[in-house]
Amino acid sequence: MSTQSALLKVMSDAARKAARGLNRDFGELAELQVSKKGAADYVSAADLKAEQTLFEALAKARPGYSFLGEERGLIEGTDKTHTWIVDPLDGTTNFLHAIPHFAINIALQREGVIVAAVTYNPITNELYWAEKGKGCFVNDKRLRVAARKHLDEAVLATGIPFLGHGQHAKFLKELHQMSQRVAGVRRFGSAALDLAFVAAGRFDGFWERDLKPWDLAAGLLLVSEAGGKITNADGDEDVLGTGSILASNLELHPLILEKLKLAN
Ligand code: IPD
Ligand code: CA
Ligand code: CA
Repeated sequence: MSTQSALLKVMSDAARKAARGLNRDFGELAELQVSKKGAADYVSAADLKAEQTLFEALAKARPGYSFLGEERGLIEGTDKTHTWIVDPLDGTTNFLHAIPHFAINIALQREGVIVAAVTYNPITNELYWAEKGKGCFVNDKRLRVAARKHLDEAVLATGIPFLGHGQHAKFLKELHQMSQRVAGVRRFGSAALDLAFVAAGRFDGFWERDLKPWDLAAGLLLVSEAGGKITNADGDEDVLGTGSILASNLELHPLILEKLKLAN
């Protein structure tokens, strides 16, 4: 059944509201002749506005919950058992370059456990959502991770380190281990959508290091509710604390992990 709970409705409505602003700004950015600096400022203003919209909508519906957002950091509420974990714009570099692949990410953590998640792609109008124990959906369609069992048929997503970020040499070793064994490796530029695509069975797996809780929190629940398996990229449990992830299905996860370990 794909009927959303009141909680999921709050999260979905907030995401759609913030998305209206982002869509408008994305359209204008493509039209505007802005300098490199001007474009970057324009995008960070769009990002801040989206986070403000999300903060207000979520605080109005659930007063007192704490809020961890990429732009404002942690704002402790009176209710410390509930924390929203929010990335108002995941895929900023895509947005800045007018590449239509970005998302709004909202997760709710209750006593340390992610219990609800929304990842919204405003360009395709795909709203991925999950609630703990109730399955994973895109709009009103139930999602399952891919059934592929062999590396040679797998398409994996990853994140390539970039200027000033990540461990470049380590990544190249991992890519070398993976690329020669799989059907393809993709770098689309939004960790949130990479995880949503794993939940949807489009990607057979996703690994990346040096991510932040707001990149990952929603996708963790999407993938696990879609029947997937998640650890960090070293095979250990702590994903949010380490910022590293390997998400796949039950069959491929150990095979991918084994190859990643060869690189380390
Ligand atoms: C980024 C995206 C990207 C990942 C980066 C993240 P942002 O988030 O998720 O795919 O490779 O490490 O920082 O900056 O666009 O919110
Ligand atoms: Ca992000
Ligand atoms: Ca962001």
